[in-house]
Amino acid sequence: MNQDEMKRAVAMAAVDMIRPKLEKNSVIGVGTGSTANCFIDALAACRNDFAGAVASSEATAERLRRHNIEVFDLNSVSELEFYIDGADEFDPHFNLIKGGGGALTREKIVAAVAKTFICIVDESKQVDVLGNFPLPVEVIPMARSYVGRQLAGLDGQPVYRQGFVTDNGNIILDLHSVDILDPKTFERHLNNIVGVVTNGLFANRSADVILMGTPQGVVTLQQ
Ligand code: A5P
Repeated sequence: MNQDEMKRAVAMAAVDMIRPKLEKNSVIGVGTGSTANCFIDALAACRNDFAGAVASSEATAERLRRHNIEVFDLNSVSELEFYIDGADEFDPHFNLIKGGGGALTREKIVAAVAKTFICIVDESKQVDVLGNFPLPVEVIPMARSYVGRQLAGLDGQPVYRQGFVTDNGNIILDLHSVDILDPKTFERHLNNIVGVVTNGLFANRSADVILMGTPQGVVTLQQ
């Protein structure tokens, strides 16, 4: 299997995993990115088995609607059984870096609400220590320089994602060259910098299940 085939395989595996548990009134959370897109496409086959989805980005909402899957406002939903999304990196403790596509804040909100977070990745995302992938930090625009200086003080190299505006109207600083040895503490520390909306570490709410695509097939990892 090549990388695209692995993404489609984990997307199908995620649908197979949740399908028996879906009820007519179920609403699920759906992430953002190329692997999440494969999941949406696979999910379309069972769109009549559940009520609809909460989207973690405008792009995901649009794709869901194209498949005639109803998109719900998170505030109108009392519970989400599942959140299904990709990741940019995952470590042995199921901590993640997400937000390569810039949707980290809404992803984190939807993941926080969901009972079970199923992460769908190909094996290239597996690392021992997070931080090789630049860590996205969503920032209120007027705080860009201030937050940049604070991040530079952490020994990393913040890089402004030029020309990119998040769905929330904010900017992204990508933090390069940090080994994230204590992801939970680092996540909280970054979130304490004034002007930071959130960061792409999913450690205090990590994945519950990881479906990892390999050339030999899908491997299910469980904590
Ligand atoms: C979107 O903001 C990200 O969190 C994505 O979930 C993540 O970057 C994985 O994307 P791919 O599935 O495209 O690799």
